[in-house]
This record gives sequence, C-alpha cells and structure tokens, in this order.
Amino acid sequence: MLRTEGLTIRFGGLTALNNVNVGIGRGEIRAIIGPNGAGKSTFFNCVTGVLRPTSGRILLNGNDITGQPPNLISRSGVARSYQITNILPNATTLENVRIAAQSRRHGWNMFRHYTEFRDIIDKAQAVLASVGLAGKADELASNLSHGEQRNLEIGIALATEPQLLCLDEPTAGMSAAETHDTMQLVRKISKDLTILIVEHDMQLVMELADRITVFHYGEVLADGPPAEIQSNPRVQEVYLKT
Ligand SMILES: Nc1ncnc2c1ncn2[C@@H]1O[C@H](COP(=O)(O)OP(=O)(O)OP(=O)(O)O)[C@@H](O)[C@H]1O
Ligand SMILES: [Mg+2]
Repeated sequence: MLRTEGLTIRFGGLTALNNVNVGIGRGEIRAIIGPNGAGKSTFFNCVTGVLRPTSGRILLNGNDITGQPPNLISRSGVARSYQITNILPNATTLENVRIAAQSRRHGWNMFRHYTEFRDIIDKAQAVLASVGLAGKADELASNLSHGEQRNLEIGIALATEPQLLCLDEPTAGMSAAETHDTMQLVRKISKDLTILIVEHDMQLVMELADRITVFHYGEVLADGPPAEIQSNPRVQEVYLKT
C-alpha cells in the first residue's frame, strides 16, 4: 500500500532521513521505533505531505504522491495524528470529529448549516463511539482528560475515512490504564485500516505490531517481525539497551 524509495530529506547540513526504503502492506500494523531524533516524525511528515523530501519517492497504492500538499494526500486516504495534540479546544467533542468528517464528505460550504448534513452527524457519532467518546459528545474538547483528547485526535483522523492511519506516539503522556485502552482501540480500528504507529513502549510495540521498522540516525537499521527485531543484536545495541 505504501512504499518509499530512497526517501531522503535534509535540513541544512542535517540529513534527517537518508535513503529510506520501506514497504507497508495493506491491513498491516507497522510500528516505527528508534531513539529520539532518529527521523520517525520526519518520516510521517514526508508521507503526509507536511514536508517535501529532498529526494526519493513515496508511492501510495502505486501512485507517486511525493511532494503533494497535505490536503491532496489526505484525500488519497492518508490520515495522521500528531505527537502533540491537535484538537480545537473550544469546540465540542462531536464538533471536532464532525468538522473532519464534513471536510471529506462535502468539502467546505459556508452557506449550508451543518445540521442539514445528517449523514455527517451520524458519521461523527459513529466515530466517537468507536473511540469510546460517545458519552462525551457535547463536552468541550478542552474539558476532556489528556487521554480522552488523544483518543479524540484518533477520532478526528478516522473521520476522514482513511485507508492508512499514521499515529505519532498516540499514548504519549498517558497513564498505564489509558495506554492500555488506547492500544485496544488501535487494535480494534486496525481491522479496517492499515496503521503506521510510532510508539516508544517496546512491550506494547511487540504485542501490537505485525512488523517493526527501526530508524537510527535517519536510516533503516532493521525491519522485520517483532521477534526478529527483539533478537537483532544491532537493535539491542542502539535501542533496547538505552
Ligand atoms: N523542520 C525541521 N527543521 C530542521 N530540523 C528538523 C526539522 N524536523 C526535524 N528536524 C531534525 O531532524 C531530526 C529527526 O527529527 P524527528 O522529529 O523526525 O525525530 P523523531 O525520531 O521523531 O524523534 P522523537 O522520538 O524525539 O520524536 C532531528 O535531529 C530534528 O531536530
Ligand atoms: Mg517524533
């Protein structure tokens, strides 16, 4: 579904990604791990069009999407959540999801009131239920707990009806219980989606992912099933022991 070929990006003298070749199959849960500054978020930024690579190609279902703007890539079916929460705090939980759903189904239409779009509200409510926030629909997003806000962010991404969902540290700052719930949530939504997830907790990654790609200084250090990654001596050296 997603393939990068020789993906490279430089920021001045810093090569943040260097000749990255990664292939992700449809329906897979792929984890990306690696030390701080390894290039994980930069990889997401390239795939979602936030950053334009210096060289190399990104193919989605065989189509070259390299350098396309984020809105086009989103329309091609790629959604993401950010490492830092990216919700509208002064809108309700439902509105946050509804706006994302509407941008996909009807585009922006300032002249029709949103309550006309019954299908959008139904969609938004279904999404809220799927991320465990049905009971918080009318709550201001700013009143949600940190964990609920992170799950809302997954809901906002889901509302755009993606084929590929990129989650950048979705459990960052969560309690152990919230982390557990979010991982259950990711596993549940993965049934209909391909998921790319950056996650620091090794235990969680090993349980969740079909395959793991290890980044190190902007390069792919290893790529394989969890058991293989866990026993890879180079991975243990640079990552698991730190
Ligand atoms: N827009 C940018 N301009 C300049 N340098 C950048 C930019 N984005 C990232 N970098 C640098 O590229 C490198 C990779 O950063 P990136 O955020 O991708 O790492 P990461 O693997 O996501 O790390 P973390 O685990 O801390 O989130 C870092 O050295 C970072 O400082
Ligand atoms: Mg990052």
